[in-house]
Amino acid sequence: MTKPKGGQVSFRMGRRRAFASALASTVSCGIGIASGHAAEESLSARFSRNKLYFGTAVRIEQVVGEQDLRTVVLRECDWLTPEVALKWSHVERSPGAFDFRSMDGLTNFALANKKQLHGHTLLWHKSVPSWATSALTERDGWTLLQRYFQAVISRYGHAITQWDVINEPIETGYRMDGLRASIFLQAFGVDYIARALREARRLAPQARLMINEFGLEYELRFEHDRRYHFLKLLERLKGAGVPLDGVGLQAHLDLSKGPLATDALSRLLKEIADLGLFILISELDVKEHEYILPVERRDARVADETRRYLDVVLAQPAVRGLSTWGLSDRHSWLEVTKDDFARYPHAWKDGSGPGLNRGLPFDASMNPKPMYRAIADSSRRPR
Ligand code: XIL
Repeated sequence: MTKPKGGQVSFRMGRRRAFASALASTVSCGIGIASGHAAEESLSARFSRNKLYFGTAVRIEQVVGEQDLRTVVLRECDWLTPEVALKWSHVERSPGAFDFRSMDGLTNFALANKKQLHGHTLLWHKSVPSWATSALTERDGWTLLQRYFQAVISRYGHAITQWDVINEPIETGYRMDGLRASIFLQAFGVDYIARALREARRLAPQARLMINEFGLEYELRFEHDRRYHFLKLLERLKGAGVPLDGVGLQAHLDLSKGPLATDALSRLLKEIADLGLFILISELDVKEHEYILPVERRDARVADETRRYLDVVLAQPAVRGLSTWGLSDRHSWLEVTKDDFARYPHAWKDGSGPGLNRGLPFDASMNPKPMYRAIADSSRRPR
């Protein structure tokens, strides 16, 4: 079963008007109070006491169109990450024709409401516009990357001071160095990472430049290999004096993957910190596994996994912040898949189904769940 993507709220009709009134209401009312937990101190307030920031990924179309979501985003977060609006395939759908509408909207919203922006992401193998895939391997392929970097960094450099320059460079099982054989590697060789970071530094001399990676949390053999190759990549880059300031650990937790590799994970964080890099937990959410359980038990499992994970990572002083990949299950990119259904051939005969994946702090009606509490409690973790 797939759910309709909530991200498609129309941004065409009356976009300006809706946007203006959203800005006006949020600015004039200040921080709103989410119904149902008005007495709670917000996550960003809790985290900031521990010198950490709290944020989430958003789509401005959803934030503008859904007042309950907007209230919670404004209340809980001090950092916002564009879920899609900065990605190359979104910004430059045809060569040289840039579409900045969503990112301009998010930037105005962030500035008007005093939120920081995280620049996600410049190079990601999954967000290359289709026209660029063959063009990149041509002789002047690099100039296409330069044009895109130049366009977004010059437009948003005043508001974005921290960029995921490279997203997901590691893939094990193919090459000895563990680098993903992406279109970038095919076109420019292994040096593309250093080259892209230098390019970004040239355009944004003051910004913090980062590499963001997933699949580093569990005791699985291939996640062990991913940790190893990720660290080796960081060591090589730092050893060569490449401009790299920080690392994002996506933290898409997954209850089908078995135990968290707590010791290996805290060692990895320490080794990253020893390289002089800061760390963000950049995309936290939880993919469920046992959808057949009662909702209370499902929520407890999600919260327990979140607690176990944050207990390890927030102990590392180099961690500067935590961002979830969305706040509400309503818009989670994680879906209950066909395989999930196939595990329970006799369930949901009445056609009801397990509902949405419940791996974010708020449910689809914007009520906080035990995962919210787990995050709130983790903000007190001594560091
Ligand atoms: C995802 C978005 O959430 C989806 O809506 C989009 O279709 C694909 O990208 N790791 C990342 C994010 O770094 O950019 C991805 O976001 C989720 C996985």
